[in-house]
Amino acid sequence: MENNTHTSKVLIAKSYGPSDVLEFQEITLDTLPQGFARIRVKAAGINPIDARRMTGEFKHAGLPQTFGTEFTGEIIEIADDHSDFKVGDFVLGSGNGFTHATVIDVPVGNLIRRPENIAWEVAGSIAGVAQTATTVLDEIGPINSLLVHGASGGVGSIIVQLARERGITVVGTSSKRNLEYVNSLGAIAVEYGDGLTERIKEVFPNAFDASIDMVGNEQATQVSLEVVKEDGVIGTIAGKPTSSERVVPFWVKRNPQNLQHVVNGIEAGKFTWEIDSTFPFENAAEAYSKILEGHTRGKIVLTF
Ligand SMILES: NC(=O)c1ccc[n+]([C@@H]2O[C@H](COP(=O)([O-])OP(=O)(O)OC[C@H]3O[C@@H](n4cnc5c(N)ncnc54)[C@H](OP(=O)(O)O)[C@@H]3O)[C@@H](O)[C@H]2O)c1
Repeated sequence: MENNTHTSKVLIAKSYGPSDVLEFQEITLDTLPQGFARIRVKAAGINPIDARRMTGEFKHAGLPQTFGTEFTGEIIEIADDHSDFKVGDFVLGSGNGFTHATVIDVPVGNLIRRPENIAWEVAGSIAGVAQTATTVLDEIGPINSLLVHGASGGVGSIIVQLARERGITVVGTSSKRNLEYVNSLGAIAVEYGDGLTERIKEVFPNAFDASIDMVGNEQATQVSLEVVKEDGVIGTIAGKPTSSERVVPFWVKRNPQNLQHVVNGIEAGKFTWEIDSTFPFENAAEAYSKILEGHTRGKIVLTF
């Protein structure tokens, strides 16, 4: 193994609060552990969890904390004699709360190849939401109909397409601005807000087999209770308290095969991947503020 010294510019926060708690720290990385690859990051998606950890809504990481769950980049060092990957390969995958940095160390098992025809900002923003969406669909099990609250966001956009691929009829909620976009993903789009139950029943009069909430508000819970079958699944990924014991929380499970499936679909042009906006890494604070607004269409991505 080569014995290289690498530095990394890392996004950190030493306290909880709005995005002005974010700062950069230059660190020297330790010797690369066995089974890991060192990646020079080219792009990394932001997920709401990053910003929610920044504010202190979730404190499990402690302080100071680093951020980021997904990335794409180039391997600059590898400590795994049995791997097919080598220095110079372009890869993408999941990191564990440490991808918003210029150089990162990632278990080789988390990596998959970045196809040449997938742009950096797309490749860097797939892992978190793709694996979340697949986890939810797999754990709900076989269904014919699904209501998606928040269909235009990061997870919503891919769960709609994965559900359609499985032959599931999908009704997806969004603001007026995103109705056409949600329709283009293959769902029947319905505008959220007052009268949502009635609007859903107009386009889908039967009871749903399941619903999944990406928003975490009371309307999503109440509407689901009205339109999902009595023995159907009412799920949430929002990680917020709910008013009904019927609501089942789902949590992402990492699975490179599931990630590969989504990457293959994007490479083949089967799945569309919407980039809401990109921000240079130096402007991460602006990007974190934007995702907290809760109206991302597709993904917000940091570029390096
Ligand atoms: N449990 C897990 O393992 C897990 C994994 C990933 C994410 N999450 C959580 O799941 C949530 C969604 O993640 P994400 O990446 O999809 O978020 P996101 O990209 O920020 O989603 C924002 C979307 O929510 C929509 N929205 C806002 N208010 C709405 C409402 N009242 N009704 C319907 N849609 C509404 C917005 O649509 P408009 O712009 O049209 O308003 C926007 O498209 C976040 O809270 C995140 O932390 C959990």
